[in-house]
Amino acid sequence: MQRCEMLARNSELPGGLTRVFLSPEARAAGALVLGWMRDAGMQARLDAIGNAVGRYEGERPGLPCLMLGSHLDTVRDAGKYDGMLGVVTAIECVHALHSEKQRLPFAIEVVGFGDEEGVRFGTTLLGSRAIAGTLDPEILDTRDAHGTTIAAALRGFGLDPNRVSSLARKKGEVLAYAELHIEQGPVLEAEDLPIGVVTAINGFSRLRVTLRGEAGHAGTVPMSLRRDALAAAAECVLALERIAREHAELVGTVGRMEAKPGAINVIPGEVHFTVDMRAPQDALRNQAVAAVKVEIGRIARERKLVHAIESLQELGSSTCAPWLMRQLERAVEAHAVRVRRLPSGAGHDGMAIKAIADIAMLFVRCKGGVSHNPAESITEEDAATGARVFFDFIREFQPAVSA
Ligand code: GLV
Ligand code: MN
Ligand code: MN
Repeated sequence: MQRCEMLARNSELPGGLTRVFLSPEARAAGALVLGWMRDAGMQARLDAIGNAVGRYEGERPGLPCLMLGSHLDTVRDAGKYDGMLGVVTAIECVHALHSEKQRLPFAIEVVGFGDEEGVRFGTTLLGSRAIAGTLDPEILDTRDAHGTTIAAALRGFGLDPNRVSSLARKKGEVLAYAELHIEQGPVLEAEDLPIGVVTAINGFSRLRVTLRGEAGHAGTVPMSLRRDALAAAAECVLALERIAREHAELVGTVGRMEAKPGAINVIPGEVHFTVDMRAPQDALRNQAVAAVKVEIGRIARERKLVHAIESLQELGSSTCAPWLMRQLERAVEAHAVRVRRLPSGAGHDGMAIKAIADIAMLFVRCKGGVSHNPAESITEEDAATGARVFFDFIREFQPAVSA
């Protein structure tokens, strides 16, 4: 809990927490984490995409690893635990092994992923996709709001973008991936349980929409002659909301919108907004995204606007591996906690790591299910229960026979 507090002090937002990928605050948080990893007996370094990576060798050097981790970046005005709790818990577990001078028949790697939230570049899971080898090199040309590319930001961080492709792990090098994370939902609290075992992570689609109308004088242009891009965008947001409400398991959000030129007395001529749609079933999400695109096209046509829709990122839903879930559940039962399985509505680095290894997740109850909000809160007792269960899981971990 203290370490989460310490990490939270590395923020671009005074009095709150905002720490985006490859920022000076991310550098400071990474340095803290690397220090904790070394204190826990690990070899630690920043990799070429800015992940903090620590390795604790097994009984012999060079064995395949159990990978543990979570992310160190945050949303804007974030809570202190989303991501960070998983990183500090994994380090704490290795520290416990190290203090008992215990080596396991596999190595452990702890990764503090640099980008899970995708706040800075709109496209997410950059750190975990690099390790999974699924990052298309062209993505390094993606620009942030200031026009800085990922490649330039990496160079500014002292990293070499040409080395990103060398981070890809081969199948077999990673025996499994396990992540502890706050639940970010209300299920565990409602059932009075400190922890739960994740079954699957919902898939997501992210879009960037541009609407172009005509800027003009707010006092002189009659309403009937306007091509107001922001009024059209408002209609698009409501259309998306209507579509998402048609199915209980579907969610859709416009989280960011920018109107240009952005003056009180000017009709907005151009608007950019983001779309985030998620569902447990990929077909349901794909249908909804298609319906949203049709509606945006219709609204733009009716209002005589030009529109463009860019797909930023799409990831299918990711199931957790039953063999790993069973091992996690044994650890949960050993602590006399009823096993509760639950899906994750939020995205996680495991979605990317799944390309090279089976994944599992342990959720820790959070207050009111609140996250992506400074009010995010957990109890020390639940964090400790999560850590103990996670530690037992690690110590007893048996690789799958096929791994
Ligand atoms: C990350 O928290 C996400 O689900 O967007
Ligand atoms: Mn998050
Ligand atoms: Mn997270």
